[in-house]
Amino acid sequence: MNLDAIKIDKTSKIPLYIQISNQIKSLLDEGIIEVEDKLPPIRLLSQHLNVNNVTIVNAYQLLSDEKVTYKVRGSGSYIAPKSEELMAQISEFDNAENQVYQMKEAQMVVHDYTINFATATPKSNLFPVTDFKKAINYVLDRDLGEAFGYQEAKGYLSLRESISGYLLHQNIHSTPENIQIISGAQQGLDIVAKSVLNYSDVVLVEAPTYSGAIASFRSRGVKIVQIPMLVDGVNMNKLEEIIKRYQPKMMYTMINCQNPTGYTYSMKKKDELLLLAKKYNMFILEDDYVGELIYSKQNSLSLKSLDSNNQVIYIKSFSKILMPGLRLGFMIVPDKLNQSILNAKQATDISTSGLIQRAFDVYLRNGQWEKQLKQMKKIYYKRYQKMIEMLNEHLPRSINYYVPKGGILFWVELPKTMDSRVFYESIKHKEIAIVPGDMFYYSDRKNNAIRLSIAAVQEDEIEEGIKLLCGYLRDFLCMNKQKEKLPIL
Ligand SMILES: Cc1ncc(COP(=O)(O)O)c(C=O)c1O
Repeated sequence: MNLDAIKIDKTSKIPLYIQISNQIKSLLDEGIIEVEDKLPPIRLLSQHLNVNNVTIVNAYQLLSDEKVTYKVRGSGSYIAPKSEELMAQISEFDNAENQVYQMKEAQMVVHDYTINFATATPKSNLFPVTDFKKAINYVLDRDLGEAFGYQEAKGYLSLRESISGYLLHQNIHSTPENIQIISGAQQGLDIVAKSVLNYSDVVLVEAPTYSGAIASFRSRGVKIVQIPMLVDGVNMNKLEEIIKRYQPKMMYTMINCQNPTGYTYSMKKKDELLLLAKKYNMFILEDDYVGELIYSKQNSLSLKSLDSNNQVIYIKSFSKILMPGLRLGFMIVPDKLNQSILNAKQATDISTSGLIQRAFDVYLRNGQWEKQLKQMKKIYYKRYQKMIEMLNEHLPRSINYYVPKGGILFWVELPKTMDSRVFYESIKHKEIAIVPGDMFYYSDRKNNAIRLSIAAVQEDEIEEGIKLLCGYLRDFLCMNKQKEKLPIL
């Protein structure tokens, strides 16, 4: 910033720190300084203006209190973004204690009678219990007590081999040595946090993002930087600026049908993201929780399948397509992290259940996983179409939603001035359940979106539930409009 742009009048009755603060705000309004620009160091500006250091400290404090700027400890003050589009929200080092927080989604209360658009987990009537029972019985007869011993911490070898073979269909070339079996994707996130991250490292996450990942990262006392998620992936120029400034160890991303927005990265951005990871030596943690559920053929390649530099740690959950209670998933681990991730897994639960691993191996080899996948994709696709039909027909015009390329989540945006938490509170005891957008941010802040999931709602429930939801939304819009018209007393 050009210091000459800041002018003060020492004869004025307006205190100097207020003059300086006002000057900086005017420079921002005039576009002379921009979002994310750094303010001059305190000593430099005080010398330039020939005022006391404390005057500048007070001016900067005022700007920070008014949220015009934000502070980065050890670095300085930066102009804060006005709109969410540009926002890279930073958690302060000061708050980064390693505490274990409750995952925000786990705090939701849903009644039995509700049409549940909140949960991202399928209902148990879709679980392939009969087929899986056959696989379990087969394993019990075949392996007897072996199935109940501790397994290799890396995972049952035959399963790692079958997964490695299966991954070829997804254009992913892996070896059984690079596959790590985990007790669900959440454990994978936690193990990566344990083995890759140290106190005060920086992790980049999309904003909004999955709260379970935030909970795992926070438990390590890391600094989390949130980058706004756009419909085709985060802004790559912004990302590069942030990488340069914070030198993050890792970025956590969901490339396909992101949770909660449903947004999918463009092919161009996938390539750019990998190039940035290479250029700045940053790991990417790819959480593929519904990659199979893209309904168009284009653009569903995972980052891992494009990862020629071996920097992507890939995590796969089976919870949305098979059964969440199996507590089974896997990771593909870059060579250089193989041992530390294995150590973290061992320290966490020694090994994933041998019986479940063996049964899933049989299930996969017999083609039953493919059968289940096909069936679930068909069911979800019908719900997806129903959802689009109902939202197009009933959503008030001032409310927008994004049509995802697949998956199970819809992101519905209320007008910017509205708070979806207030809407959620107003309907939380009614017959539908939704998730307010603030659940998916690191910090508590106002958000105008809601997440709707089709994982646990049948088509007839979608029809009834969306009509109800849109009625409540219309009432909420009316109430807010009336409030805006009220005179300020
Ligand atoms: C994006 C994402 N990652 C990971 C998980 C955890 O999955 P798992 O049940 O395999 O632990 C979830 C669960 O909802 C999720 O939505």
